[in-house]
Amino acid sequence: MKQAPRKYANYIPIRELETLEERLSPFKVYAELRDNTPVRYDEHRECWDVFGYEDVKYVLKNPKLFSSARDRANTSMLTTDPPKHKQLRDLVNQAFTPKAIEALAPRIQEITDELIAPHLSEGHMELIDDLATPLPVIVIAELIGVPAADRQKFKDWSDVLVKGARDDSEQAFQELLEEKKRNMQELHIYFTGIMEERRLQPKDDLISLLLAAEIDGQQLTSDEVVGFCILLLAAGNETTTNLITNAVRILSEQPELQQELREHPERITSAIEETLRYYPPIVAIGRVAKETVELNGQTIQAGEQVISWVGAANRDSAQFENPEDFISDRKPNRHMGFGFGIHFCLGAPLARLEARVVLHTLLQHMGNIQLVSGTALQPIQSAFVFGVKHYPIEFNL
Ligand code: HEM
Repeated sequence: MKQAPRKYANYIPIRELETLEERLSPFKVYAELRDNTPVRYDEHRECWDVFGYEDVKYVLKNPKLFSSARDRANTSMLTTDPPKHKQLRDLVNQAFTPKAIEALAPRIQEITDELIAPHLSEGHMELIDDLATPLPVIVIAELIGVPAADRQKFKDWSDVLVKGARDDSEQAFQELLEEKKRNMQELHIYFTGIMEERRLQPKDDLISLLLAAEIDGQQLTSDEVVGFCILLLAAGNETTTNLITNAVRILSEQPELQQELREHPERITSAIEETLRYYPPIVAIGRVAKETVELNGQTIQAGEQVISWVGAANRDSAQFENPEDFISDRKPNRHMGFGFGIHFCLGAPLARLEARVVLHTLLQHMGNIQLVSGTALQPIQSAFVFGVKHYPIEFNL
């Protein structure tokens, strides 16, 4: 059998998602896998897959057994383990507090209003191109402190960071790795330039804050500051785009929810949590076993890859009542859409805020939001991202 490179499993979808329909809504397939083979080894992708809620939680809360470190230089907190992870995260937390994020609300509202204004009188818009993509890119660009003129470059770079292979051939995989390598080099050069400027002349932005952050005499190195900026693009842009789009997709698929949220706007916050459970933008999270581990009757060997299927765990009836129903005020809702444990999403407050502002604004200005009829949805080509490429909507004025 052909030996696949170790990172391969991150880039190719599971074989069980055969049809277009299944890739547009993989949850039935996930449920079958969870019920029949809750922990299984996939020969094709050379990794373990974990589908049940408790098993996924066990993997994510045990970094001693399941490492986040991959085989490249680890300067990003996402791919480091304790104790280094805590040091990086604590330093960054100083600049990324929920309070600092909440202060962005008026600006996020302003950008949202500007982006939808040209379309309001038309009664239709391309949700992703016109709003769900530019909004997080602009917000992160402004937060980090990069010039508005570089936004398009930003978007292109962040797209490549999360891109999956065009098919599951070895050639497609190698091409993708090359493209990602070039992309990384460009990003490094770009952010190093901005960082050097801020070192000489600090501004009121995240890069300047990161350069100044200090705990017990420890500071971030230049590589770590640059690495963190790149991580924000990789982790924050497409995920937020998909959260917004997946939320609107649910509103369009279940129109009665629109009326419910208009009548109960206080439920928008919990409806966003339910979106993260029901249509999570990230459906799978990768780890590597550090030692031989028993999990739900299976023996995982040290060094083997383990993929935790949040998309399956989030609909496990052992944890959620009526898991296949979207319940806008579901309580409790211990979904793992933002992960679990020490790597729990740092940007969760920002993503929640952007989604909240967008849903409020759309529901306020648009009646009966619908996917433009006849649209053939296309799934995003990625093993771990759940979303669609285009989402044209029409609405009543
Ligand atoms: C970590 C999802 C938005 C920054 C994570 C993890 C998930 C996730 C599942 C855990 C990964 C793991 O355990 O390996 C999401 C989703 C988002 C979103 C679904 C949008 C809806 C954002 C935003 C930012 C961000 C807006 C920043 C601006 C991060 C960072 C980490 C992370 C820095 C790494 C934390 C650590 O390793 O300690 N995210 N994310 N994310 N996310 Fe998010």
